[in-house]
Amino acid sequence: MAVRDILLFPDPRLKAPCREAAFSAELRAALKDLEETMYASPGVGLAAPQIGVDARAVAVDVTRKPPSGRPAPAGHGLLLLVNPRITLMEGEQKMREGCLSIPDFLADVRRAARVRVEAWDADERPVIVETAGFEAVALQHEIDHLEGLLFLDRVENVKTDLFRRKKKGAA
Ligand code: NI
Repeated sequence: MAVRDILLFPDPRLKAPCREAAFSAELRAALKDLEETMYASPGVGLAAPQIGVDARAVAVDVTRKPPSGRPAPAGHGLLLLVNPRITLMEGEQKMREGCLSIPDFLADVRRAARVRVEAWDADERPVIVETAGFEAVALQHEIDHLEGLLFLDRVENVKTDLFRRKKKGAA
């Protein structure tokens, strides 16, 4: 296991759609690195391309204690998802997002309020995650990374919805 460097925008690897992940020793090692790198960062989610791995995999844990000291949002704890697919989106919410690959900005982004995600876990078992609120935002944000989409791509109005970050801490 290793904490890896997180690629920063505008690295072209962040803009390329990822390949389907195939289970192998190499993938398992990459998943452990993804998990370890996320927990070493101030973020609540990380996608494989952000550590330079071209495979459809994400790590999310919105329940970790936020740097702000506020209570952590409700959630499933660590979600390590391979080949995740969003199979249901309902409702709408707009929340402020950050990204470990875009450390200087935050933005208000419109996303589905509730999602169902179907994936495989690190042990190659099928998993279905149904969630809402902040965890649903985090999953949509990380799965976007697998398509080469960044939150900047979803900002509707850069004048009203995009902000320079004043202090550390990222989603
Ligand atoms: Ni991100």
